[in-house]
Amino acid sequence: MPANDLAIVVLAAGKGTRLKSSLAKVLHRAGGRPLVEQVLRACAPLGAKRTVVVVGHQAEQVTAVIEPLEAASVLQHPQHGTGHAMQVARRALGNSKLAIVLPGDAPLIRAGTLRAMVAAHRAASAAATVLSAVVNDPRGYGRIVRKSETQVGAIAEESQLTEEQRDINEINSSIYCFSLDKLWAALAQVKPNNKHREIYLTDAIGVLASKGENVLAQVAPDPREVLGCNTRADLAEVDRIFREWKRNALMNDGVTIQLPETVMIDPEVTAGEDTVIEPGVQLLGKTKIGARCVIRASSVLADAILGDDVIVEPHCVVAKSRLDDGVSIGPFARVRPDCHLKANVHIGNFVELKKTVLGEGTKAGHLTYLGDAKIGAKSNVGAGTITCNYDGFAKNPTTIGSRVFIGSNSALVAPLRVGDGAYIAAGSTITENVPAEGLGIARGRQSNKPGWAAKKRRELTAAKAGSNSSRKPSRGSKSHRTRSARKSGKKARRR
Ligand code: UD1
Ligand code: MG
Repeated sequence: MPANDLAIVVLAAGKGTRLKSSLAKVLHRAGGRPLVEQVLRACAPLGAKRTVVVVGHQAEQVTAVIEPLEAASVLQHPQHGTGHAMQVARRALGNSKLAIVLPGDAPLIRAGTLRAMVAAHRAASAAATVLSAVVNDPRGYGRIVRKSETQVGAIAEESQLTEEQRDINEINSSIYCFSLDKLWAALAQVKPNNKHREIYLTDAIGVLASKGENVLAQVAPDPREVLGCNTRADLAEVDRIFREWKRNALMNDGVTIQLPETVMIDPEVTAGEDTVIEPGVQLLGKTKIGARCVIRASSVLADAILGDDVIVEPHCVVAKSRLDDGVSIGPFARVRPDCHLKANVHIGNFVELKKTVLGEGTKAGHLTYLGDAKIGAKSNVGAGTITCNYDGFAKNPTTIGSRVFIGSNSALVAPLRVGDGAYIAAGSTITENVPAEGLGIARGRQSNKPGWAAKKRRELTAAKAGSNSSRKPSRGSKSHRTRSARKSGKKARRR
Protein backbone atom coordinates (compact mmCIF):
# COMPACT_ATOMS: atom_id res chain seq x y z
CA MET A 1 0.00 0.00 0.00
CA PRO A 2 1.59 3.34 -0.95
CA ALA A 3 2.32 5.73 1.89
CA ASN A 4 -0.04 8.32 0.46
CA ASP A 5 -2.95 6.02 1.26
CA LEU A 6 -2.17 6.69 4.92
CA ALA A 7 -4.14 9.23 6.95
CA ILE A 8 -3.67 10.49 10.49
CA VAL A 9 -6.68 11.14 12.71
CA VAL A 10 -6.28 12.88 16.06
CA LEU A 11 -9.26 12.74 18.41
CA ALA A 12 -9.38 16.07 20.20
CA ALA A 13 -13.03 16.97 20.74
CA GLY A 14 -13.37 15.99 24.41
CA LYS A 15 -13.69 18.44 27.27
CA GLY A 16 -11.35 16.78 29.74
CA THR A 17 -13.72 16.79 32.70
CA ARG A 18 -11.14 15.23 35.01
CA LEU A 19 -8.83 18.25 34.60
CA LYS A 20 -11.47 20.53 36.18
CA SER A 21 -10.57 23.35 33.82
CA SER A 22 -12.23 26.00 31.68
CA LEU A 23 -9.65 25.16 28.99
CA ALA A 24 -10.23 22.18 26.68
CA LYS A 25 -7.89 19.31 27.57
CA VAL A 26 -5.89 19.24 24.34
CA LEU A 27 -5.03 22.94 24.77
CA HIS A 28 -3.30 22.30 28.09
CA ARG A 29 0.47 22.42 27.69
CA ALA A 30 3.15 19.87 28.36
CA GLY A 31 6.78 20.20 27.32
CA GLY A 32 6.14 23.80 26.28
CA ARG A 33 3.38 23.19 23.73
CA PRO A 34 -0.36 22.40 23.67
CA LEU A 35 -0.98 18.64 23.87
CA VAL A 36 -2.60 18.45 20.43
CA GLU A 37 0.36 20.26 18.87
CA GLN A 38 2.77 17.77 20.42
CA VAL A 39 0.76 14.88 18.94
CA LEU A 40 0.74 16.44 15.45
CA ARG A 41 4.47 17.16 15.60
CA ALA A 42 5.14 13.52 16.53
CA CYS A 43 3.15 12.39 13.46
CA ALA A 44 4.70 14.86 11.00
CA PRO A 45 7.73 12.70 10.02
CA LEU A 46 5.37 9.98 8.73
CA GLY A 47 4.41 12.23 5.83
CA ALA A 48 0.77 11.11 5.73
CA LYS A 49 -1.31 12.44 2.86
CA ARG A 50 -4.08 13.69 5.12
CA THR A 51 -4.10 14.78 8.74
CA VAL A 52 -7.49 15.31 10.32
CA VAL A 53 -8.18 16.53 13.84
CA VAL A 54 -11.62 15.94 15.32
CA VAL A 55 -12.49 19.07 17.31
CA GLY A 56 -15.46 19.87 19.55
CA HIS A 57 -14.85 21.63 22.85
CA GLN A 58 -13.39 25.07 22.16
CA ALA A 59 -13.22 24.07 18.51
CA GLU A 60 -12.09 27.52 17.38
CA GLN A 61 -9.11 27.67 19.72
CA VAL A 62 -8.09 24.10 18.90
CA THR A 63 -8.37 24.82 15.16
CA ALA A 64 -6.17 27.90 15.58
CA VAL A 65 -3.44 25.69 17.08
CA ILE A 66 -3.61 22.96 14.44
CA GLU A 67 -3.99 25.05 11.27
CA PRO A 68 -0.34 26.16 11.07
CA LEU A 69 0.59 22.47 11.30
CA GLU A 70 -1.26 21.69 8.08
CA ALA A 71 -4.01 19.64 9.66
CA ALA A 72 -7.69 19.89 8.75
CA SER A 73 -10.33 20.06 11.44
CA VAL A 74 -13.66 18.26 11.55
CA LEU A 75 -16.32 19.27 14.04
CA GLN A 76 -17.85 16.67 16.35
CA HIS A 77 -20.82 18.21 18.09
CA PRO A 78 -22.13 16.89 20.36
CA GLN A 79 -19.43 14.39 21.40
CA HIS A 80 -20.75 10.84 21.62
CA GLY A 81 -17.45 9.06 22.24
CA THR A 82 -14.21 8.06 20.52
CA GLY A 83 -15.98 5.71 18.04
CA HIS A 84 -18.43 8.45 17.12
CA ALA A 85 -15.49 10.84 16.63
CA MET A 86 -14.09 8.46 13.98
CA GLN A 87 -17.46 8.27 12.22
CA VAL A 88 -17.51 12.07 12.08
CA ALA A 89 -14.00 12.09 10.53
CA ARG A 90 -14.95 9.57 7.82
CA ARG A 91 -15.82 12.03 5.05
CA ALA A 92 -12.62 14.00 5.51
CA LEU A 93 -10.53 10.85 5.02
CA GLY A 94 -11.46 10.61 1.34
CA ASN A 95 -10.00 7.52 -0.30
CA SER A 96 -7.41 6.79 2.41
CA LYS A 97 -7.09 3.06 3.02
CA LEU A 98 -5.21 3.10 6.27
CA ALA A 99 -5.33 5.45 9.25
CA ILE A 100 -3.28 5.97 12.36
CA VAL A 101 -5.68 7.11 15.05
CA LEU A 102 -4.34 8.92 18.11
CA PRO A 103 -5.91 10.60 21.10
CA GLY A 104 -5.09 14.29 21.49
CA ASP A 105 -4.06 13.77 25.10
CA ALA A 106 -1.10 11.35 24.78
CA PRO A 107 1.68 13.64 23.52
CA LEU A 108 4.83 11.64 24.30
CA ILE A 109 4.40 9.28 21.34
CA ARG A 110 7.35 9.12 18.94
CA ALA A 111 7.38 8.82 15.17
CA GLY A 112 9.56 5.70 15.24
CA THR A 113 7.00 3.84 17.37
CA LEU A 114 4.20 4.81 14.96
CA ARG A 115 6.27 3.68 11.98
CA ALA A 116 6.90 0.29 13.59
CA MET A 117 3.18 -0.12 14.32
CA VAL A 118 2.24 0.65 10.71
CA ALA A 119 4.94 -1.73 9.43
CA ALA A 120 3.64 -4.57 11.66
CA HIS A 121 0.07 -3.82 10.53
CA ARG A 122 1.01 -3.92 6.84
CA ALA A 123 3.18 -7.03 7.23
CA ALA A 124 0.29 -8.98 8.78
CA SER A 125 -2.42 -7.42 6.55
CA ALA A 126 -4.24 -6.76 9.81
CA ALA A 127 -7.67 -5.20 10.18
CA ALA A 128 -6.55 -3.30 13.27
CA THR A 129 -3.34 -2.93 15.26
CA VAL A 130 -3.50 -1.53 18.76
CA LEU A 131 -0.44 0.09 20.29
CA SER A 132 -0.31 -1.29 23.81
CA ALA A 133 2.02 -0.86 26.75
CA VAL A 134 2.91 -2.99 29.72
CA VAL A 135 2.73 -0.87 32.88
CA ASN A 136 2.97 -1.32 36.65
CA ASP A 137 -0.22 0.59 37.37
CA PRO A 138 -2.89 0.04 34.68
CA ARG A 139 -5.64 1.92 36.54
CA GLY A 140 -7.61 4.37 34.40
CA TYR A 141 -6.72 2.68 31.09
CA GLY A 142 -8.58 0.18 28.93
CA ARG A 143 -7.02 -3.31 29.19
CA ILE A 144 -5.98 -5.50 26.25
CA VAL A 145 -7.81 -8.81 26.45
CA ARG A 146 -5.80 -11.23 24.29
CA LYS A 147 -7.41 -14.30 22.82
CA SER A 148 -4.07 -15.82 21.82
CA GLU A 149 -0.43 -14.81 22.02
CA THR A 150 -0.73 -12.78 18.83
CA GLN A 151 -4.43 -11.93 18.62
CA VAL A 152 -6.47 -9.37 20.54
CA GLY A 153 -9.97 -10.42 21.57
CA ALA A 154 -11.26 -7.15 23.01
CA ILE A 155 -10.45 -4.00 24.93
CA ALA A 156 -12.12 -3.75 28.33
CA GLU A 157 -12.63 -0.24 29.69
CA GLU A 158 -11.91 0.36 33.38
CA SER A 159 -15.62 0.63 34.17
CA GLN A 160 -16.39 -2.67 32.41
CA LEU A 161 -13.63 -4.83 33.92
CA THR A 162 -14.34 -8.23 35.35
CA GLU A 163 -12.42 -9.28 38.48
CA GLU A 164 -9.82 -11.29 36.47
CA GLN A 165 -9.36 -8.51 33.90
CA ARG A 166 -8.47 -6.00 36.65
CA ASP A 167 -4.98 -7.55 36.95
CA ILE A 168 -4.16 -7.27 33.23
CA ASN A 169 -1.22 -4.92 32.99
CA GLU A 170 -1.20 -4.51 29.20
CA ILE A 171 -3.10 -1.31 28.48
CA ASN A 172 -4.67 0.32 25.43
CA SER A 173 -2.78 3.47 24.42
CA SER A 174 -5.73 4.62 22.28
CA ILE A 175 -3.27 4.70 19.38
CA TYR A 176 -4.27 2.38 16.57
CA CYS A 177 -3.68 1.56 12.96
CA PHE A 178 -6.92 0.70 11.14
CA SER A 179 -7.70 -0.66 7.69
CA LEU A 180 -10.50 1.82 7.20
CA ASP A 181 -13.07 -0.24 5.28
CA LYS A 182 -12.98 -2.84 8.07
CA LEU A 183 -13.26 -0.15 10.73
CA TRP A 184 -16.37 1.47 9.20
CA ALA A 185 -18.12 -1.90 9.02
CA ALA A 186 -17.26 -2.68 12.65
CA LEU A 187 -18.26 0.75 13.97
CA ALA A 188 -21.68 0.35 12.38
CA GLN A 189 -22.26 -2.52 14.80
CA VAL A 190 -21.06 -0.76 17.96
CA LYS A 191 -23.79 0.22 20.40
CA PRO A 192 -23.46 2.79 23.19
CA ASN A 193 -23.58 0.08 25.85
CA ASN A 194 -21.87 1.96 28.67
CA LYS A 195 -22.82 4.32 31.44
CA HIS A 196 -21.89 7.43 29.37
CA ARG A 197 -24.06 6.24 26.45
CA GLU A 198 -21.04 6.75 24.15
CA ILE A 199 -19.85 4.87 21.08
CA TYR A 200 -16.44 3.59 22.11
CA LEU A 201 -13.76 3.05 19.49
CA THR A 202 -12.46 0.32 21.78
CA ASP A 203 -15.65 -1.68 21.13
CA ALA A 204 -14.85 -1.75 17.40
CA ILE A 205 -11.78 -3.82 18.30
CA GLY A 206 -14.04 -6.42 19.99
CA VAL A 207 -16.39 -6.45 16.98
CA LEU A 208 -13.49 -7.01 14.55
CA ALA A 209 -12.07 -9.82 16.69
CA SER A 210 -15.45 -11.53 17.00
CA LYS A 211 -15.73 -11.49 13.19
CA GLY A 212 -12.43 -13.39 13.06
CA GLU A 213 -10.48 -10.42 11.68
CA ASN A 214 -6.78 -10.13 12.31
CA VAL A 215 -6.38 -7.78 15.31
CA LEU A 216 -2.86 -7.24 16.63
CA ALA A 217 -1.39 -5.52 19.66
CA GLN A 218 2.04 -3.98 19.23
CA VAL A 219 3.76 -3.25 22.56
CA ALA A 220 5.33 0.22 22.80
CA PRO A 221 9.08 -0.01 23.49
CA ASP A 222 8.85 2.63 26.25
CA PRO A 223 5.57 2.66 28.20
CA ARG A 224 6.04 6.35 29.00
CA GLU A 225 5.29 7.14 25.33
CA VAL A 226 1.61 6.33 25.74
CA LEU A 227 0.90 8.24 28.96
CA GLY A 228 -2.45 10.01 28.65
CA CYS A 229 -3.14 13.36 30.33
CA ASN A 230 -6.49 12.92 32.02
CA THR A 231 -5.62 14.66 35.32
CA ARG A 232 -3.37 17.50 36.48
CA ALA A 233 -1.03 14.89 37.95
CA ASP A 234 -0.79 13.19 34.52
CA LEU A 235 0.02 16.59 32.95
CA ALA A 236 2.80 17.22 35.46
CA GLU A 237 4.31 13.79 34.86
CA VAL A 238 4.18 14.12 31.07
CA ASP A 239 5.70 17.63 31.26
CA ARG A 240 8.49 16.28 33.48
CA ILE A 241 9.35 13.60 30.91
CA PHE A 242 9.39 16.07 28.00
CA ARG A 243 11.71 18.37 29.97
CA GLU A 244 14.00 15.47 30.82
CA TRP A 245 14.25 14.46 27.14
CA LYS A 246 15.06 18.05 26.13
CA ARG A 247 17.76 18.44 28.80
CA ASN A 248 19.31 15.12 27.78
CA ALA A 249 19.38 16.26 24.14
CA LEU A 250 21.23 19.47 25.09
CA MET A 251 23.65 17.60 27.34
CA ASN A 252 24.38 15.25 24.44
CA ASP A 253 25.21 18.36 22.40
CA GLY A 254 27.86 19.44 24.93
CA VAL A 255 25.94 21.65 27.35
CA THR A 256 26.54 21.28 31.11
CA ILE A 257 23.34 21.34 33.16
CA GLN A 258 23.72 21.32 36.95
CA LEU A 259 20.98 19.66 39.01
CA PRO A 260 19.16 19.00 35.72
CA GLU A 261 15.82 18.15 37.28
CA THR A 262 15.48 21.80 38.44
CA VAL A 263 16.02 23.26 34.95
CA MET A 264 13.09 23.87 32.55
CA ILE A 265 13.85 24.21 28.84
CA ASP A 266 11.34 24.73 26.03
CA PRO A 267 11.56 22.54 22.92
CA GLU A 268 12.96 25.11 20.48
CA VAL A 269 15.78 26.34 22.72
CA THR A 270 19.35 25.79 21.49
CA ALA A 271 22.69 26.19 23.31
CA GLY A 272 26.30 25.92 22.16
CA GLU A 273 29.13 23.73 23.41
CA ASP A 274 30.53 24.26 26.90
CA THR A 275 27.68 26.50 27.96
CA VAL A 276 26.86 25.96 31.64
CA ILE A 277 23.30 26.13 32.96
CA GLU A 278 23.00 26.38 36.72
CA PRO A 279 20.12 25.11 38.91
CA GLY A 280 16.65 26.64 38.73
CA VAL A 281 17.11 28.23 35.30
CA GLN A 282 14.22 28.51 32.81
CA LEU A 283 15.02 28.82 29.10
CA LEU A 284 11.80 29.55 27.27
CA GLY A 285 10.37 30.17 23.81
CA LYS A 286 12.87 30.56 20.99
CA THR A 287 15.86 31.31 23.21
CA LYS A 288 19.20 30.70 21.47
CA ILE A 289 22.42 30.59 23.48
CA GLY A 290 25.92 30.58 22.02
CA ALA A 291 29.01 28.67 23.16
CA ARG A 292 30.78 28.99 26.54
CA CYS A 293 27.99 31.03 28.13
CA VAL A 294 27.13 30.76 31.82
CA ILE A 295 23.49 31.08 32.84
CA ARG A 296 23.62 31.25 36.59
CA ALA A 297 21.06 30.13 39.15
CA SER A 298 17.38 31.07 38.94
CA SER A 299 17.60 33.20 35.79
CA VAL A 300 14.72 33.20 33.30
CA LEU A 301 15.38 33.77 29.58
CA ALA A 302 12.44 33.97 27.18
CA ASP A 303 13.00 34.48 23.44
CA ALA A 304 16.51 35.71 24.19
CA ILE A 305 19.36 35.53 21.67
CA LEU A 306 22.78 35.24 23.30
CA GLY A 307 26.14 35.28 21.50
CA ASP A 308 29.22 33.44 22.78
CA ASP A 309 30.84 33.92 26.21
CA VAL A 310 27.84 35.69 27.71
CA ILE A 311 27.49 35.64 31.50
CA VAL A 312 24.08 35.91 33.09
CA GLU A 313 24.59 36.20 36.85
CA PRO A 314 21.93 34.79 39.25
CA HIS A 315 18.31 35.98 39.30
CA CYS A 316 18.19 37.80 35.96
CA VAL A 317 15.17 38.04 33.66
CA VAL A 318 15.67 38.55 29.91
CA ALA A 319 12.77 38.75 27.47
CA LYS A 320 12.82 39.06 23.66
CA SER A 321 16.24 40.70 23.52
CA ARG A 322 19.75 40.22 22.09
CA LEU A 323 22.93 39.97 24.12
CA ASP A 324 26.01 39.86 21.89
CA ASP A 325 29.38 38.16 22.55
CA GLY A 326 30.99 38.83 25.92
CA VAL A 327 28.04 40.63 27.50
CA SER A 328 27.60 40.22 31.26
CA ILE A 329 24.46 41.03 33.21
CA GLY A 330 23.28 40.87 36.80
CA PRO A 331 22.87 39.61 39.41
CA PHE A 332 19.25 40.81 39.60
CA ALA A 333 19.15 42.52 36.19
CA ARG A 334 15.99 42.79 34.12
CA VAL A 335 16.13 43.12 30.34
CA ARG A 336 12.64 43.74 29.00
CA PRO A 337 11.63 43.28 25.34
CA ASP A 338 13.39 44.86 22.37
CA CYS A 339 16.82 45.46 23.88
CA HIS A 340 20.13 44.93 22.13
CA LEU A 341 23.26 44.79 24.25
CA LYS A 342 26.24 44.88 21.88
CA ALA A 343 29.55 43.09 22.48
CA ASN A 344 31.08 43.35 25.97
CA VAL A 345 28.31 45.47 27.46
CA HIS A 346 27.97 45.10 31.22
CA ILE A 347 24.88 45.81 33.26
CA GLY A 348 24.97 45.13 36.98
CA ASN A 349 22.57 44.62 39.85
CA PHE A 350 19.12 46.19 39.85
CA VAL A 351 19.44 47.56 36.34
CA GLU A 352 16.25 47.51 34.25
CA LEU A 353 16.28 48.03 30.49
CA LYS A 354 13.37 48.38 28.06
CA LYS A 355 13.57 48.94 24.30
CA THR A 356 17.16 50.07 24.70
CA VAL A 357 20.32 49.65 22.65
CA LEU A 358 23.69 49.76 24.42
CA GLY A 359 26.77 50.12 22.19
CA GLU A 360 29.92 48.01 22.49
CA GLY A 361 31.58 48.08 25.89
CA THR A 362 29.04 50.42 27.50
CA LYS A 363 28.44 49.87 31.22
CA ALA A 364 25.58 50.53 33.63
CA GLY A 365 26.71 48.95 36.87
CA HIS A 366 24.04 49.64 39.45
CA LEU A 367 20.45 50.67 40.18
CA THR A 368 19.47 52.16 36.83
CA TYR A 369 16.43 52.37 34.53
CA LEU A 370 16.99 52.90 30.82
CA GLY A 371 13.87 52.89 28.64
CA ASP A 372 13.49 53.88 24.95
CA ALA A 373 17.19 54.77 25.01
CA LYS A 374 20.01 54.42 22.51
CA ILE A 375 23.52 54.68 23.91
CA GLY A 376 26.72 54.53 21.87
CA ALA A 377 29.92 52.61 22.59
CA LYS A 378 32.12 52.79 25.71
CA SER A 379 29.80 55.05 27.67
CA ASN A 380 29.42 54.81 31.44
CA VAL A 381 26.07 55.16 33.13
CA GLY A 382 26.43 55.99 36.84
CA ALA A 383 24.51 54.37 39.68
CA GLY A 384 20.92 55.52 40.06
CA THR A 385 20.56 57.00 36.56
CA ILE A 386 16.98 57.14 35.33
CA THR A 387 15.66 57.92 31.85
CA CYS A 388 12.34 59.70 32.44
CA ASN A 389 10.86 58.33 29.23
CA TYR A 390 7.16 58.65 30.03
CA ASP A 391 5.37 61.98 30.36
CA GLY A 392 2.01 60.50 31.28
CA PHE A 393 0.93 60.31 27.62
CA ALA A 394 3.76 59.10 25.41
CA LYS A 395 7.08 57.30 25.58
CA ASN A 396 9.93 59.62 24.55
CA PRO A 397 13.42 58.65 23.32
CA THR A 398 16.79 59.35 24.89
CA THR A 399 19.80 59.28 22.56
CA ILE A 400 23.25 59.25 24.12
CA GLY A 401 26.49 59.15 22.14
CA SER A 402 29.72 57.21 22.61
CA ARG A 403 32.26 57.78 25.44
CA VAL A 404 29.64 59.65 27.45
CA PHE A 405 29.98 59.77 31.24
CA ILE A 406 26.71 60.06 33.12
CA GLY A 407 27.24 60.93 36.77
CA SER A 408 25.34 59.00 39.43
CA ASN A 409 21.77 59.80 40.35
CA SER A 410 20.99 61.70 37.15
CA ALA A 411 17.46 62.06 35.84
CA LEU A 412 17.43 62.33 32.04
CA VAL A 413 14.10 63.83 31.01
CA ALA A 414 13.19 62.63 27.51
CA PRO A 415 13.10 63.50 24.67
CA LEU A 416 16.79 64.20 25.05
CA ARG A 417 20.10 64.03 23.18
CA VAL A 418 23.53 63.86 24.73
CA GLY A 419 26.43 64.19 22.25
CA ASP A 420 29.59 62.04 22.01
CA GLY A 421 32.11 62.45 24.80
CA ALA A 422 29.83 64.62 26.97
CA TYR A 423 29.68 64.58 30.77
CA ILE A 424 26.59 64.81 32.93
CA ALA A 425 27.30 65.99 36.46
CA ALA A 426 26.10 63.65 39.20
CA GLY A 427 22.72 64.45 40.67
CA SER A 428 21.54 66.46 37.66
CA THR A 429 18.04 66.61 36.29
CA ILE A 430 18.79 67.10 32.60
CA THR A 431 15.96 68.55 30.52
CA GLU A 432 17.91 70.04 27.61
CA ASN A 433 20.20 68.48 25.02
CA VAL A 434 23.89 68.34 25.97
CA PRO A 435 26.40 69.05 23.15
CA ALA A 436 29.28 66.68 22.28
CA GLU A 437 32.25 67.06 24.64
CA GLY A 438 30.21 69.44 26.85
CA LEU A 439 29.17 69.19 30.49
CA GLY A 440 25.52 69.13 31.48
CA ILE A 441 25.00 70.19 35.06
CA ALA A 442 21.60 70.92 36.55
CA ARG A 443 21.59 71.05 40.32
CA GLY A 444 21.68 73.62 43.16
CA ARG A 445 25.15 75.12 43.65
CA GLN A 446 26.82 73.98 46.86
CA SER A 447 27.91 76.51 49.50
CA ASN A 448 29.89 75.55 52.64
CA LYS A 449 29.36 77.40 55.95
CA PRO A 450 32.49 76.96 58.09
CA GLY A 451 31.82 76.10 61.76
CA TRP A 452 28.06 75.85 61.19
CA ALA A 453 27.76 72.28 62.46
CA ALA A 454 29.69 72.82 65.70
CA LYS A 455 27.62 75.91 66.49
CA LYS A 456 24.40 74.07 65.78
CA ARG A 457 25.43 71.18 68.02
CA ARG A 458 26.19 73.57 70.92
CA GLU A 459 22.81 75.24 70.55
CA LEU A 460 20.94 71.95 70.48
CA THR A 461 22.83 70.56 73.49
CA ALA A 462 22.03 73.67 75.52
CA ALA A 463 18.38 73.61 74.53
CA LYS A 464 18.08 69.94 75.56
CA ALA A 465 19.68 70.55 78.98
CA GLY A 466 17.27 73.48 79.58
CA SER A 467 14.18 71.46 78.76
CA ASN A 468 15.30 68.54 80.98
CA SER A 469 15.71 70.79 84.07
CA SER A 470 12.33 72.51 83.51
CA ARG A 471 10.69 69.05 83.25
CA LYS A 472 12.06 67.85 86.68
CA PRO A 473 9.21 65.85 88.19
CA SER A 474 7.12 67.34 91.11
CA ARG A 475 6.86 65.43 94.43
CA GLY A 476 3.34 64.32 93.63
CA SER A 477 4.26 62.88 90.30
CA LYS A 478 7.33 61.15 91.81
CA SER A 479 5.23 59.37 94.44
CA HIS A 480 2.76 58.42 91.71
CA ARG A 481 5.57 56.86 89.67
CA THR A 482 6.83 54.95 92.71
CA ARG A 483 3.40 53.61 93.38
CA SER A 484 2.93 52.32 89.86
CA ALA A 485 6.50 50.95 89.82
CA ARG A 486 5.85 49.09 93.04
CA LYS A 487 3.10 47.21 91.28
CA SER A 488 5.63 45.74 88.84
CA GLY A 489 7.94 44.51 91.66
CA LYS A 490 11.44 44.18 90.19
CA LYS A 491 11.40 47.51 88.32
CA ALA A 492 10.47 49.38 91.48
CA ARG A 493 13.39 47.82 93.44
CA ARG A 494 15.83 48.78 90.69
CA ARG A 495 14.75 52.40 90.97
C1 UD1 B 1 -9.26 6.18 26.14
C2 UD1 B 1 -9.62 4.74 25.79
C3 UD1 B 1 -8.88 3.81 26.76
C4 UD1 B 1 -7.39 4.07 26.70
C5 UD1 B 1 -7.07 5.55 26.96
C6 UD1 B 1 -5.59 5.81 26.70
C7 UD1 B 1 -11.89 4.78 24.89
C8 UD1 B 1 -13.33 4.49 25.17
N1 UD1 B 1 -11.05 4.56 25.89
O1 UD1 B 1 -9.76 6.45 27.45
O2 UD1 B 1 -9.12 2.45 26.39
O3 UD1 B 1 -6.71 3.24 27.66
O4 UD1 B 1 -7.84 6.38 26.07
O5 UD1 B 1 -5.25 7.14 26.96
O6 UD1 B 1 -11.55 5.16 23.79
N2 UD1 B 1 -12.58 12.37 22.26
C9 UD1 B 1 -13.24 12.89 21.16
N3 UD1 B 1 -14.59 12.77 21.09
C10 UD1 B 1 -15.32 12.16 22.06
C11 UD1 B 1 -14.64 11.61 23.17
C12 UD1 B 1 -13.27 11.74 23.24
O7 UD1 B 1 -12.62 13.45 20.27
O8 UD1 B 1 -16.55 12.09 21.90
C13 UD1 B 1 -11.13 12.52 22.34
C14 UD1 B 1 -10.66 13.25 23.59
O9 UD1 B 1 -10.55 14.64 23.34
C15 UD1 B 1 -9.29 12.62 23.85
C16 UD1 B 1 -9.40 11.23 23.24
O10 UD1 B 1 -10.54 11.24 22.42
O11 UD1 B 1 -8.24 13.33 23.24
C17 UD1 B 1 -9.54 10.15 24.30
O12 UD1 B 1 -10.62 10.47 25.16
P1 UD1 B 1 -10.50 10.35 26.73
O13 UD1 B 1 -11.75 10.85 27.33
O14 UD1 B 1 -9.22 10.93 27.19
O15 UD1 B 1 -10.46 8.77 26.88
P2 UD1 B 1 -9.82 7.93 28.08
O16 UD1 B 1 -10.79 7.86 29.19
O17 UD1 B 1 -8.47 8.42 28.38
MG1 MG C 1 -7.44 10.11 27.92
